[in-house]
Amino acid sequence: MKKIEAIIRPEKLDAVRHALEKSGCPGIMITEIEGHGKQKGVVQQWRGEKYKVELLPKIKIETVVADGQLAGVLKVIIDNARTGDIGDGKIFVSGIDDAVRIRTGESGEGAL
Ligand SMILES: Nc1ncnc2c1ncn2[C@@H]1O[C@H](COP(=O)(O)OP(=O)(O)OP(=O)(O)O)[C@@H](O)[C@H]1O
Ligand SMILES: [Mg+2]
Repeated sequence: MKKIEAIIRPEKLDAVRHALEKSGCPGIMITEIEGHGKQKGVVQQWRGEKYKVELLPKIKIETVVADGQLAGVLKVIIDNARTGDIGDGKIFVSGIDDAVRIRTGESGEGAL
């Protein structure tokens, strides 16, 4: 199993969510976050003074998928989140040892 953490633009959430639901993604969690990447936020000019905006609002989508679903789910996220401009976001993938559905006690991929 793999955990996908995708940091995306807030305005892309609906498109990514609906595409994930259509593609058979077993479940998702959404968190509103603030962060910055390589550009360290943006610098805004206001009445001659420079204000550094260091953190920008983003959405974190987390989903745990079977190994065989990984490539497809990554493609769905990228296809629906990308504008081609800086700040489109980032995806982190990590391994998951186990999962348990509390109601039934099922574990492993069967619990997803
Ligand atoms: N190395 C990182 N570790 C943790 N979070 C990150 C990392 N890089 C980016 N993020 C998160 O992803 C969000 C979006 O990052 P962003 O798309 O600006 O990445 P980037 O590397 O600067 O790429 P780009 O040049 O396309 O802007 C950040 O606000 C931050 O929350
Ligand atoms: Mg950036």
